[in-house]
Amino acid sequence: MSIKKEELMQQALTARERAYAPYSEFKVGCALLTKDGKVYLGCNVENGAYGPTNCAERTALFSAIADGYTVGSFEAIAVVGATENPITPCGVCRQVLVELCDKDMPVYMGNLNGDTNQMTVSQLLPGAFTLED
Ligand code: THU
Repeated sequence: MSIKKEELMQQALTARERAYAPYSEFKVGCALLTKDGKVYLGCNVENGAYGPTNCAERTALFSAIADGYTVGSFEAIAVVGATENPITPCGVCRQVLVELCDKDMPVYMGNLNGDTNQMTVSQLLPGAFTLED
């Protein structure tokens, strides 16, 4: 694992502790690295009406956008959950990643055992519907 990947994974684990997941009891953490070196953390925030639940990945991305970062400002993202194999982002988060991140940006995925996987944004959502469409 590269240093960058390792550090981001550690930060994602910290973010995971902040998850609000009383319904699924499945905590997810995320760390988003900007091209200028800032890290935004994200966790899942659930809701009693279920629908308003926000995944860890979108929490981090929206937080960075709200803080002034723009499309294409991001270098990498790490996400971690207590899965048997490295966690994999949901379809909604994949669509948001495609919208806001470079197509070749790495997405680091991990679990609590230290297993990891890595894919690019476009590998996670081939044939995505984008602004160009
Ligand atoms: N979840 C995430 O936050 N990120 C993922 O990559 C997968 C799923 C959350 C949503 C919900 O709060 C819980 O995990 C169970 O689906």
